[in-house]
This record gives sequence, structure tokens and C-alpha cells, in this order.
Amino acid sequence: MAVALIQGASKGLGLQFSKVLAARADVAKVIATSRGAENEAVLLGIQKQFPNKLVLINVDITKEDHIKRAVPLITEKSGGKLDLVINCSAILHPSGKGETSLRDVSFEGLRSTFETNTIGPLLTAKYFSPLLLKSSGLFGNQSGKKHSGILVNMTAKVSSISDNQVGGWYSYRLSKTALNMATKNLSIELGRGKSKVICIAMHPGTVDTDLSRPYHKGVPADKLFTTEKSVTFLMAIIDRLSVEETGKCIGWDGNIIPY
Ligand SMILES: NC(=O)c1ccc[n+]([C@@H]2O[C@H](COP(=O)([O-])OP(=O)(O)OC[C@H]3O[C@@H](n4cnc5c(N)ncnc54)[C@H](OP(=O)(O)O)[C@@H]3O)[C@@H](O)[C@H]2O)c1
Repeated sequence: MAVALIQGASKGLGLQFSKVLAARADVAKVIATSRGAENEAVLLGIQKQFPNKLVLINVDITKEDHIKRAVPLITEKSGGKLDLVINCSAILHPSGKGETSLRDVSFEGLRSTFETNTIGPLLTAKYFSPLLLKSSGLFGNQSGKKHSGILVNMTAKVSSISDNQVGGWYSYRLSKTALNMATKNLSIELGRGKSKVICIAMHPGTVDTDLSRPYHKGVPADKLFTTEKSVTFLMAIIDRLSVEETGKCIGWDGNIIPY
């Protein structure tokens, strides 16, 4: 039976991943983390529905000692292996809005956006990749070449250097481009041994969550996905992933997004 860790699970896409995975018959345990996961009403509601399945742990991803301290508990709760880790935590910018020009760029804005969007997910990979390496590959294409766990870093299409036509959003774009590089690096390092972790970056589409809320007005209704719709697309991709796709950035529609 599979075990998943959802990092950044208190709302938005992370919450929906936690709900969907907790309801799956082939999943034994979902470990959901965020700064306040243990007291988050919606997560507690799901836990009531699946009392032996959903484990809630407070982890602030911007503090390495928090992540490190969670390792023994997560190792115990997971039974010593993780089949899927999804890094969902992110902010657009501490102000809630992306920079429109250089005038808006600040050291503090860049620093805190990088902490949540890039450094936290990379440290999650550092501390939990030993558990991913212990997986027997219960997610992804199990008839293809053998793999162990799957690491998903939620990125955004605006991270693509080759796709950038309009500029702006310095902190968010830069942090996600760096996360893509981290994903590529991880795919190489964690793909070298006998046990191979599939590492991918995923773009969920434009989704109706707090993160993108200030920008919903300009999005046509059919292009603004619910979290349910986006996670259905993303889980379908995760369920058929193979080693050949490691290191890539994959959109909600299954298309590869060039870096
Ligand atoms: N929504 C979109 O349109 C869209 C588009 C492209 C990509 N994405 C990506 O998809 C992912 C999920 O985004 P979302 O839209 O679901 O965002 P969201 O609704 O704002 O949720 C963000 C999550 O990150 C967590 N988080 C923030 N700071 C944290 C910290 N220091 N430590 C631990 N957790 C932290 C939040 O939990 P707490 O605040 O409770 O700790 C929350 O659970 C992100 O990586 C985002 O960049 C979203």
C-alpha cells in the first residue's frame, strides 16, 4: 500500500491532493504538512473521515530545523518509505502581488519568495529522498522500467525562460526557474543508483486558489480550473509516469513545458 507526503497541504492544490489521495483504496497513509496543518479545520475534517490514513504535521518549510525535526516522526508514520512526495508550498510574493517592474523588486521580496518556493522544496528533497529511495514504485507506470518513489515539485509555466514574453513577477518567476533547475539536478542525483526516484516539475494550469486570486479577473472562465479539475489532470499524469520522464517539466495537459 502506498504512502504519500504532501508538503503545503493546508489549502489550494495541496489540500486537494491530500483529499484525493486519502480517498484512494491503494493508499495507506497520507502525511500532510504546512505551518499549521495540525489545527487546520478542513484537514481535521478529512482526518475524521479517514482517521487512520491522514497524518497532520506542522512544518514551516522556511526553517531547516523544522524539516529536520519532522524526519523521525514522518519516518515512523510512513513505515520507513515514501512512494510520492509533492511539494506544493509557494507564495507569489510576500505582498500577495507579483512585481510589475524593477521598481517593485526588493531584497526582502526575493528572499522570502525563494525561501518558500525554492529552498524549502529542495530541503524537503534532501531530508525525504532516503525514504523515496526505499519505495518499490507504487505510483507511476509499474509495467515500465523499474523506479522507486516519485518527487513532484509544483512549478508554474511562468518559470519557463523560453516562454517568457511579458516579463514581470521577478521573485516568483526566478524562484520557480531555480526550482526547475533543482528538479533537474535531483533527477540526475537520485537517478544514478539502482533505486531511481522520478523527479518532475508540474504546472497545474491557472487554478482558483488564494495564490492566484488577485489575477482571476482577466482569466476566461474555462481557463480557470477548480482545484478538483487540476488535481484530476495531475494525478492522471503521476499515475502513468515513467523513468524516461524524470527531470522534465510537465503541464496539466501532459505536454512538456520547455525550460
Ligand atoms: N494557483 C495557481 O494558479 C497556480 C499556478 C501555477 C502554479 N501553482 C503552484 O501550485 C502550488 C500550490 O499553489 P496553490 O495555488 O495551491 O497555493 P495556495 O492555495 O496559496 O497554497 C499554498 C500552500 O503553501 C503553504 N505554505 C506557504 N508558506 C509555507 C511555509 N513557510 N511552510 C509550509 N507551507 C507553506 C500554505 O500553507 P500555510 O500557509 O498554511 O503554511 C498552503 O498550504 C504552488 O507551488 C504554486 O506556485 C499554482
